[in-house]
Amino acid sequence: MSNRNISMAVIRRLPKYHRYLGDLLDRDIQRISSKELSDIIGFTASQIRQDLNNFGGFGQQGYGYNVEELYNEIGKILGLSRTYNSIIIGAGNLGQAIANYSGFTKAGFKIKALFDANPRMIGLKIRDFEILDSESIEEFVEENNIDIAILCIPKNGAQDVVDRLVKVGIKGIWNFAPLDLEVPNDVIVENVNLTESLFTLSYLMNENK
Ligand code: NAI
Repeated sequence: MSNRNISMAVIRRLPKYHRYLGDLLDRDIQRISSKELSDIIGFTASQIRQDLNNFGGFGQQGYGYNVEELYNEIGKILGLSRTYNSIIIGAGNLGQAIANYSGFTKAGFKIKALFDANPRMIGLKIRDFEILDSESIEEFVEENNIDIAILCIPKNGAQDVVDRLVKVGIKGIWNFAPLDLEVPNDVIVENVNLTESLFTLSYLMNENK
C-alpha cells in the first residue's frame, strides 16, 4: 500500500486513532462504529470515515470497524510493525527524562546509548543506558545499526552534530533543539517544541478576554 498521497493533516491524526484503538483493545472492545469512535476521539464521524478511507477504509456497513484490525493496520501505516534503534545526543535534563521513560522502548523505539560532550557525564548510567563520549557517535552508529537520533542539546552546535549524523547514515532525527535543521531530502526531521505548545495554551486561555 502506498501512503504517498496522504495529507500531513491525516498523518498527524493517525497516532491519536492508534492510541484510542489501543485503549479499546485493552478494554476488550472488538468493534466500533464511526459514530462511537467520534464520541471518544472528538473528530466527526464523517472525518473519521474520510480519514480511514485513505487506507482502503476498514469499516463495513452495519458492522463498523474491527478494532484490532484497524489498530494493526494503522500501526503498520505508522511504521510500528518494526523496531527502531535510537541514540540520545545530550544527556542533560531532557535527554535523561527521555531515557527514563520506558514507554518509547515498549512502543519499539529502543534506546541504545546516550552521548554527551561533557567529560564528567561520560561513563554514568541512566537506567541501563551508558553515557558515551560524543566523539564516538560515528563509530557507535556504524556498529549498532542506529536508525534514529534524539537531539537534546542546545541549539549552538546542533547543526554540526546533525551533519555528522547524516554523514554516517542516520535517516531520522527527533529534534528537541530549538532550531530549524538543514538535512538532505532523504533524512526526516520531526521537531518537538514544548514551548510552542505552552504558548498555544496561553493563547487559548486569553483569546476571549
Ligand atoms: P542541559 O543543559 O541539562 O543538557 C544539555 C546537555 O547537552 C549537557 O549535558 C551538555 O553537556 C550536552 N551537550 C552540549 N553540546 C553538546 C554537543 N555538541 N554534543 C553532545 N552533547 C552536548 O539542557 P536541557 O534542559 O536538557 O535542554 C537541552 C536542549 O533541549 C536545549 O536546547 C533546550 O532548549 C532543549 N529543550 C527543548 C524542549 C522542547 O520541547 N523542544 C524542552 C526542553 C528543552
